Amino acid sequence: MADLVRYELKDRVAVLTIDNPPVNALAPAVWEQIDQAVARGVADAGADAMVLIGAGTTFIAGADIKIFDALKTREDSMSRSAGTHALLKRVEDAGKPLVAAIHGNALGGGLEVAQACHFRVASKDAKVGQPEVMLGIIPGAGGTQRLLRLCGAKMALAMCTDGKPVAAPKALAAGIIDQIVEGDLLTGAIAFATMKAAARQIRKTRDLQIKPEDVSGGMATCEAVRVALGKTARGAHAPFVAVDAIQAALTHSFDEGSIRERELFAGCVVSIESKALRHMFFAEREVAKVPDIPKDTPTREITRAAVVGAGTMGGGIAMNYANAGIPVLLKEVDQAALDRGMATIRKNYEVTMSKGKMTAEQLQRTLALITPQITYDGFDRVDIVTEAVFENMDLKKATFKELGAVTRPDCILASNSSTLDIDQFAQASGRPPQVLGHHYFSPANVMKLLEMVRGRETSKEVIATSLKLSKKLNKVGVVVGNCFGFVANRMLAYYMREAYLLLEEGASVPQIDKVLTDFGLPVGPYGMQDIAGIDVGARIRQYLASIGKTRAEGPQSAIPDRLFAMGRYGQKTGAGWYKYAAPGSRDRTPDPVIEQMADEEAAKRGVKRRPVADEEILARIMTALANEGARVLEEHYATRASDIDVIYCYGFGYPRLRGGPMFYAETVGLATVLSRVKEYRARFGDYWEPAPLLEKLVAANKSSFEG
Ligand code: 3HC
Repeated sequence: MADLVRYELKDRVAVLTIDNPPVNALAPAVWEQIDQAVARGVADAGADAMVLIGAGTTFIAGADIKIFDALKTREDSMSRSAGTHALLKRVEDAGKPLVAAIHGNALGGGLEVAQACHFRVASKDAKVGQPEVMLGIIPGAGGTQRLLRLCGAKMALAMCTDGKPVAAPKALAAGIIDQIVEGDLLTGAIAFATMKAAARQIRKTRDLQIKPEDVSGGMATCEAVRVALGKTARGAHAPFVAVDAIQAALTHSFDEGSIRERELFAGCVVSIESKALRHMFFAEREVAKVPDIPKDTPTREITRAAVVGAGTMGGGIAMNYANAGIPVLLKEVDQAALDRGMATIRKNYEVTMSKGKMTAEQLQRTLALITPQITYDGFDRVDIVTEAVFENMDLKKATFKELGAVTRPDCILASNSSTLDIDQFAQASGRPPQVLGHHYFSPANVMKLLEMVRGRETSKEVIATSLKLSKKLNKVGVVVGNCFGFVANRMLAYYMREAYLLLEEGASVPQIDKVLTDFGLPVGPYGMQDIAGIDVGARIRQYLASIGKTRAEGPQSAIPDRLFAMGRYGQKTGAGWYKYAAPGSRDRTPDPVIEQMADEEAAKRGVKRRPVADEEILARIMTALANEGARVLEEHYATRASDIDVIYCYGFGYPRLRGGPMFYAETVGLATVLSRVKEYRARFGDYWEPAPLLEKLVAANKSSFEG
């Protein structure tokens, strides 16, 4: 077995070093070797005390998340965690002082191991946390029982329900750690352990008394947290279960509370919520790995940027650069448009400041990084330009032609187009290897997704540089292929098609939106269109009509174009799919005009309107997404199904708790999804055509898009 926990003696202290790169995750063998190393230290006559420390950049980032997949039933989980609980009790029963020395992170099981040590010291920049809820579980190795005894109910509840890590100084003040070590951590930890050995001091966390204020008020604190979670943890289950586990610590002995924790953990770990969140954890990390772009692909530093177009998207993109400390030129065609754009940017920053998230000085400093201008002055010095002009092929091609002339040959030219063919811009620029899509999502300064569209000739260096840049811009970069609408909007067209058809068939706009928000989306399809602008979609449809295409297969509803013709563009004009109190207001009410239009359009298509059940709305919309997602995958416009899930969660706020549209389809069952497509084809027409990949997977009895 590999040496995952090294043992050595230093100044009569046994140093146990966990060495399981990259983050010392607690794989089963690491747990075992910690147990063995502690036993060896206890038996070693040359050791008076022990220090448990992590090799590399961190202490322990938690249990190995991959192993949870092996826990198929509650019983599997109960028996594994019984072993872990017993192991940590053995560690805690060690007859010599055992000190955890924490640097980097002590998270999840990592903090639970540290809690079972007699004392904890940490570097001042270390962090400790119980982030399990982010994975749909709760601490499962005694964390809910020991943490409460160390820091009290309020802090334990906060840590176990929001999952946020706590910095060492705060952890020290709360009693989670005992000392901050300035200078070399191991040296400090050895000194601390030696001192405890000399004083013959051993302190078992599990024997600590519950704090007096928690004896009297702990239950009320739990109740208050449950009420607060009702607002902040909508749809999630695990945070509430974490409260139950901490409540058990307040009302039971350590051993009884620990059994309750194990039962509660077991219920969580087999839940779809946890499977979905674990899927997202790995999906978010996989997405940065592009098969033919090795890690060592050369990249360029981006130190200066420019954006063309100071509209809503262009302004938001410029803010992203400024927020990252990168100076950015912002160009518009005329002064009035530029002034409007800069006023919006300033207003956005002022809102941030009013929320206390930025000081006046930071506002000025950030704003000063954006240089508004109506010329191409200085474009020959920037490393990247993002084009964010109107979504019009001719205009964009003309812009790329100009950019090809005014920028350096090695400057990256990115387009924020949400749909159009990147290769045509690349040709227009005269240097296709430097061109790619940088598709931001609205509002561009808020939404985390950056869809990076790879053109036919985009160089690997440009893609690698973009991926690196996305991190700097605090975005999740996903590399996709160049098809109409790329991945996000290509699939969205099918989502919207079903929303339109369901309306014509008899569902209402508020009903459809509510089904989707109840599912966990921040906004339904119609609310989203009213925010994004009905004019945007209408102009794309006009362009497509000019080249003889439609966005999605199947009947095209006339209602969106009728709204466009009426000047009902959504929130900004005070009317769209809903009526608004005033232009720009979010205060909306349903509009009977829409029902009337739906009646008229249904009559034209010979559709008899009927009550549509919420279940049908959800099933139709989600099936449409998954079926088109399967095509996208098979045509290699997305590298993996999980990339599509990342795109939907970060671009459209698809609930992570559901794991994204492709994972959700897997939880519904691929065979069920396929049978729904076939049912809809029989009911509605051949435009419902099963994606070949879906048929292949079901025929091969596969349960996952990854085969
Ligand atoms: N298990 C398995 N793999 C893990 C892991 C874990 N707990 N934590 C990180 N990794 C892997 C990542 O998947 C990644 O792998 P890759 O290089 O193959 O993509 C690699 O380690 C590096 O991780 P990051 O890219 O995330 O590195 P960062 O430096 O950006 O972040 C971190 C480090 C803050 C530790 C972050 O990885 C993290 O938050 N990890 C998860 C922490 C966590 O949730 N712990 C609780 C686990 S559940 C638990 O402990 C249950 C217990 O109560 C029984």
